Amino acid sequence: MTTRRLILTRSAAVIGAASSGLLLPQIVRAQSDKLRVGFMLPYTGNFAPLGVAIENGFRMALNEQGGKLGGREVEFFKVDDESNPAKGIENATRLVQRDKVDVLVGTVHSGVQMGIHKVARESGVLNLIPNAGVHIATRGQCAPNVFRTSFTNSQPTLALGKAMVDRGHKKAVWITWSYAAGDEAFEGFEQSFTAAGGSIVKKLGLPFPNMEFQALLTEIASLKPDAVACFFAGPGAAKFMRDYAAAGLSKTIPLYGSGFLTEGVLEAAGEAANGVITTMHYADSLDTPRNKQFRLEYAKAFKSQPDVYAVQGYDSGQLLVKGANAVKGDFSNKKALYAAMEGVVIDSPRGKWTMSKAHNPIQDMYLRKVENKENKVIGVAAKAVADPATGCRMG
Ligand code: PHB
Repeated sequence: MTTRRLILTRSAAVIGAASSGLLLPQIVRAQSDKLRVGFMLPYTGNFAPLGVAIENGFRMALNEQGGKLGGREVEFFKVDDESNPAKGIENATRLVQRDKVDVLVGTVHSGVQMGIHKVARESGVLNLIPNAGVHIATRGQCAPNVFRTSFTNSQPTLALGKAMVDRGHKKAVWITWSYAAGDEAFEGFEQSFTAAGGSIVKKLGLPFPNMEFQALLTEIASLKPDAVACFFAGPGAAKFMRDYAAAGLSKTIPLYGSGFLTEGVLEAAGEAANGVITTMHYADSLDTPRNKQFRLEYAKAFKSQPDVYAVQGYDSGQLLVKGANAVKGDFSNKKALYAAMEGVVIDSPRGKWTMSKAHNPIQDMYLRKVENKENKVIGVAAKAVADPATGCRMG
């Protein structure tokens, strides 16, 4: 009610100012004082912890700026996308049309991202992708108003195949949830593993977020590959590692994965995660002042340990801060806003990264091994990995 009255009063002032030729633009700006940031993230279901970590990280970056963006106060809006692709368009439309957000931050699940992507392209609203790696968003359907601060689904696995062959594994089984994220992670794995001389015995899958792994584990036991590689994430990943160990497989067939497998779940996985090797653009154990300071501040603020999702949320916040500062909070100056965001070097807890022309991070991939509930860095699997951005034409 108060807000409404305020707007009406201001409207009267605008009309008065206009007719007397006074300072109209300033008065109009005053009406939209607060920048409107919308989170469209999973707050229920298997990916809920990922959504929470992303929001925490994002808020942390803004809090480092006194909670402001380019000098403007920020108002937050939230939608639980439930990792449900069928509601992707509807949920994104709610944030854009009902809440009139200036920026939509989301999401985790690649299928839901496609709904956001459609709405972002049609409405022109600025979209920051803090996780979902679906290729097309920064390939054939790349867009000037869509920026990703995470990865493409094949980026981590492009670094995985050679690391496995180097360890003497020539025959592998791939297993995943069968949807865009798992299928595209497979593309990166297949490319790197076969290029290094490995061969893929079989590709196994189950629908997301099904966690009944038993039949597939029995099949792996009978296939007897040298190693298994996979894409799983969130609590389902912990369950997969526990089931894999309980089936006795970890003793004879080493488990590898896209690094999400061991992010945020090491407590839940317990002993079962020991020895699992993955590739990822972050590791909790990265021994840099930047990472240590980030981990300390995050733990203090949120009473939990950060993971790759927290880092990606934090970097989305850092990216937006840089853009907002460049235009002094004037988000209507899209050309300057996007130009500033394109030219960034993000000083991230993962290490410095730059934004590709297709709006996706160019970043190092670490090789990590789980030891005592920590992702220990055992090497850099690949430097400055860029997605090929096939078919991307900005315009
Ligand atoms: C995705 O759906 O793109 C996705 C989800 C969870 C992850 C990584 C990728 O950890």
